[in-house]
Amino acid sequence: MSDNNGIILKMENITKTFPGVVALDDVSMDLYKGEVLGILGENGAGKSTLIKILAGNYIKDSGSIFVDGKKFEISSPSEAMASGIRVIYQELNTLINLTVTENIFVGEQLVKGPFKIVDWKAMNKRAVEILNELNVDIDPNAIIGNLSVSEKQVVEIAKAISKEAKILVMDEPTAALSEEETQSLFKIINTLKSKGVSIIYISHRLKEIFEITDRVVVLRDGKKVGLRKTTETDASELVNLMVGRDIREMYPKRELVIGKVVMEVKNLTAEGFSGISLTLKKGEILGIFGLLGSGRTSLVKALFGANKIKSGEILVNNKKVEIKSPGIARDEKIGLVPLDRKVEGLALSMGVKENITLANIEGLGNGFLIKKQLENKKAQNWVNEMGIKTPSINQEVNSLSGGNQQKVVIAKWLESGSEIIILNEPTRGIDVGSKIEIYKLMQNLCEKGSSIIMISSELPEILSIADRILVMSKGKLTAQYLRTEATEEKLLQSACI
Ligand SMILES: Nc1ncnc2c1ncn2[C@@H]1O[C@H](COP(=O)(O)OP(=O)(O)OP(=O)(O)O)[C@@H](O)[C@H]1O
Ligand SMILES: [Mg+2]
Repeated sequence: MSDNNGIILKMENITKTFPGVVALDDVSMDLYKGEVLGILGENGAGKSTLIKILAGNYIKDSGSIFVDGKKFEISSPSEAMASGIRVIYQELNTLINLTVTENIFVGEQLVKGPFKIVDWKAMNKRAVEILNELNVDIDPNAIIGNLSVSEKQVVEIAKAISKEAKILVMDEPTAALSEEETQSLFKIINTLKSKGVSIIYISHRLKEIFEITDRVVVLRDGKKVGLRKTTETDASELVNLMVGRDIREMYPKRELVIGKVVMEVKNLTAEGFSGISLTLKKGEILGIFGLLGSGRTSLVKALFGANKIKSGEILVNNKKVEIKSPGIARDEKIGLVPLDRKVEGLALSMGVKENITLANIEGLGNGFLIKKQLENKKAQNWVNEMGIKTPSINQEVNSLSGGNQQKVVIAKWLESGSEIIILNEPTRGIDVGSKIEIYKLMQNLCEKGSSIIMISSELPEILSIADRILVMSKGKLTAQYLRTEATEEKLLQSACI
């Protein structure tokens, strides 16, 4: 058993329960030296829980873990780290008041000399090297709180690869990354692999699973339901294993019922973009595509009153409005599903119910009891309709899986009765089956008269769901296509102008 047949990590019969949920049910898996092992599964299947047990964040109820053939009782994250297990978590853990360099080296600063003086120069140099490898232009002295979500994600990755790792775990590392950054990450994964590092890779993006993994494990409802060599399986088999049924129609099509203009933006300029004009029609889904830093998030934030407008006009239903704050946006019946649900979208310590209905409590009729009953009923409806996996509507949102938290944010805004709904990467972290449900909900809303602005970096998604697509690059609008005329090439070309 000297090299354990190349097995670096063995997880045997791992079980973990939370009140009301069996998150992992007798799961076993092996990880070989120098391989990339994918883990697939619907939202709430148990992927992150497995990782958190390996990383010492959660204590398993039963089962065994062996690293390098030796039994391994991990009881804290620092122990896991000391054993060469590094994790990039699904939920960003960056410390917002620190600089990029401080964050990368937090807890393990480089020191020099006999007095172990903190070596900032060396750390800055190393930080720049790693960021260059990742092919991103981020100032190592920038404060994390001022970075965009995707930049924060890159810093998380840099942090994980800054020290030698034996086992590197990535829980949806590309959820906030552009195609380019994803490719840079894959290059790094391949380099690490060739150095013998073993990688566990979790993603809802099947394309990535096929591109980067050697084998794939599929979890469903906490159980391992399949293990395949990546070259010996295909997307439909994996989806079938994940959801237990065939998914044929990925993108539901609909008849267009587009009405009058409900929002008109004239020559709008704010931090991050300038001179943008657009119209949004009743019943329309308007897509916005652009690469990182193109100004898409700044634009939708300005439409929602969260980014100060410098010049230009916004008209809602032909009336000029000054959207100076999100409160005013809400009064104008504009809702926003933000990119970073943790910061802007959810009250994490409150229940599922409160999160869905709190912003919308006025609509719930008179009388305390009636309000309570209606609130429960509404929340339960959304939980059913969107398939939010939770033991009850009173569960703290904090304890839901990443994808299920995202569903709660979407439900909150759909419930709000907004006439103009802005969705920033709505299906980020959402599993394939649930995506279809969300697309259907979006279409139903449009049929009932709402209008949607959707930012998406997923080309197939935006090409199928949006009726019209605007492309942004460097803070300007560079092109506009009807769905019927748009292609992946055209969108990418216009995004790179
Ligand atoms: N701290 C916790 N307290 C209670 N329940 C939890 C906790 N952590 C996870 N769960 C539950 O365990 C189950 C598995 O969650 P997990 O986060 O592992 O799913 P996942 O496969 O990572 O999903 P996603 O794709 O949405 O990220 C879910 O039902 C979740 O609500
Ligand atoms: Mg997860």
